[in-house]
Amino acid sequence: MIKFSKALLTIVAFLLPGLNYAADPIVIKFSYVTAPNTPKGKAAETFKRSVEIDTQGRVKIELYPNGQLYKDNEEMGALQRGAVQMLAPALSKFSPLGVDEFGLFDLPYIFPNKKAVYRVMDSDVGKRIFAKLEPKGMLGLAYWDNGFKQVSANKAIIRVKDFKGLKMRIQASNKVLEAQMRILGAKPKIFSADQQYKALKEGAADGAENTVSNFYTLKLYEVQKHLTLSNHSYLGYAVVVNKKFWEKLPRDIRTILEQDMKAATEYQREIAQYENDQALIQVMRATEIEVLPEDIRREWTKALLPVHKEVENIVGKDNLRAIYAITAQLDKEEREHKEQIYKKK
Ligand code: SIN
Repeated sequence: MIKFSKALLTIVAFLLPGLNYAADPIVIKFSYVTAPNTPKGKAAETFKRSVEIDTQGRVKIELYPNGQLYKDNEEMGALQRGAVQMLAPALSKFSPLGVDEFGLFDLPYIFPNKKAVYRVMDSDVGKRIFAKLEPKGMLGLAYWDNGFKQVSANKAIIRVKDFKGLKMRIQASNKVLEAQMRILGAKPKIFSADQQYKALKEGAADGAENTVSNFYTLKLYEVQKHLTLSNHSYLGYAVVVNKKFWEKLPRDIRTILEQDMKAATEYQREIAQYENDQALIQVMRATEIEVLPEDIRREWTKALLPVHKEVENIVGKDNLRAIYAITAQLDKEEREHKEQIYKKK
């Protein structure tokens, strides 16, 4: 009798989709190297919550923050072999995979503001770069935000000459980041996100560049006395999935994932700046904050803009031109907007 009841329950569970899904959800392992209390971590949590509600438990998102499952030099391989299904690596970290075009986002002083960043991400340039991921067995679902990078060291870095001879940590073997540090007179040193605290503490690197949110959550303020608010380049992410896994998902599930990713991306763009501003308040307690006067900022810009020319064949001349056109268009729109306001007064 007991045997019969179990068999009956199994058949009922199989026939009733709701029960069956609840018993056996699709699991998406989402790995990333930052802390949960970062723009990336918060967006990942929002995405998880909405997907699990909207799919009524048919999909379960397992979040693995802080590189607890894979370090950032391991996670691309893990995604490609299907050990995890979703990642959100910094855009610079796609270079070792052979997708150098993401380096466009690392170019110094290419974006005047976040509006320009988002417009490029949402443009054909952003789509063209995502298409380069497909032969690597990945699909790009969204661009996520963190913020503009600042420079840290154990001495105040104000003038360009202050970089001379410093070993500066960069995120990955990436021609743009390497060229940027060399042009400043520094020596680029690659350390993964999890290695950088130790490298800075033990002197394998003298300084680094990162967003204030990462500087705070990775506790880099414990090993760096000065932080220069240079906003010299940008740090963003690509949310990527394993292509085969994605293509095997039921169509209705894919639609929900796409919609929830869109909503998480919008939320991310709303909170990223706030997270960085809040982190700055915390960091100020431990670190000397340096602000660049306008003439010195011009000195940095003059020193760094030649990087664009140096790497144009790596990131793609057409892409570069398209970004210049987008930022010029934005500039025009902003001027026209100001004129409208002026005329109304
Ligand atoms: C990240 O924001 O994902 C990592 C940044 C880093 O490597 O410092």
